Amino acid sequence: MTQSLSGRNFLKLLDFTPEEVVSLVDLAQELKEKKKKGIAHKELEGKNIVLLFEKTSTRTRCSFEVSGHDLGMGVTYLDSSGSQMGNKESIKDTARVLGRMFDGIEYRGFGQDIVDTLAQYAGVPVWNGLTDECHPTQTIADLLTIRENFGHFEGLKLVFMGDAKNNVANSLMVGCAMTGITFVACCPDSSKPDDALVARCQEIAREHNCEVMVSSDVNEATKDANIIYTDIWVSMGEPVELWEGRIKELSPYQVNASVMANAADDAIFLHCLPAFHDTDTTVAQQIEKKFGLTEMEVTDEVFESNQSKVFDEAENRMHAIKAIILATMR
Ligand code: CP
Ligand code: NVA
Repeated sequence: MTQSLSGRNFLKLLDFTPEEVVSLVDLAQELKEKKKKGIAHKELEGKNIVLLFEKTSTRTRCSFEVSGHDLGMGVTYLDSSGSQMGNKESIKDTARVLGRMFDGIEYRGFGQDIVDTLAQYAGVPVWNGLTDECHPTQTIADLLTIRENFGHFEGLKLVFMGDAKNNVANSLMVGCAMTGITFVACCPDSSKPDDALVARCQEIAREHNCEVMVSSDVNEATKDANIIYTDIWVSMGEPVELWEGRIKELSPYQVNASVMANAADDAIFLHCLPAFHDTDTTVAQQIEKKFGLTEMEVTDEVFESNQSKVFDEAENRMHAIKAIILATMR
């Protein structure tokens, strides 16, 4: 029952039980069905939410905006250039002001301590729309996408290739361990996830008959995998100077046709997006000019293949975020 999440914050997955995490996936699926059938679900009519973005976004911002509107709410967007947040006004004061006006607050930005502070002072539910440490709304959408493709979680194997210490990988590792999906971080030593987080996830995994592993061997790690997942090699907020080293270290961990061929026959490819799979963006063109690469963490061939479910996954961000808002606000 998601009822019990009423009034809760959504800051990181480890704050929730596995049952609560699965209940959010169930609610997301239910809301997706309603939306597809054109059944109105304005369950939060008359309420208002505010979205705080200190980093850029397409999917997360639009998911919160569309979800808010579908649920009947007013939605306000603020970034650091158009508000006092972080410049003239502390996060603590911002939280106390916005908590008087809004019924819920989303935050995307830097340290996890910022979203924690917001939650401590706002007095209304606060949702993490991505921090340096984690990206929990992404994992709920990923779990929904995985279940839509395989019909279940238990017994599956997901391999995260590349920068396996980033926010997306951190949350996904927790979500997999909680749902019985074996998680393999396939990366060089320099991109290994935090030891303490791996140990915590291994404990959770033991209770759910799955494993959490770290491996630098691409062939061994991706063998018979059901889900191959990757993300950008340098995340928002990291210095651009990191590109050169990351390209060198992470190129052997690119998702390409031979990785997909080594995975299970019914394997799918997931990516939180945006992805570097061609040179159709300004940043990709700069990378091409500087390093001569036309694709990075995933080849265009895999990205555009039938095994790629990245746009279903992107759509599911909206259904997942709507579930998180509804469960915590109703
Ligand atoms: N996956 C994701 O969070 O996308 P945005 O950065 O566009 O929100
Ligand atoms: N790891 C990426 C995820 C973007 C959705 C970043 O933080 O930039």
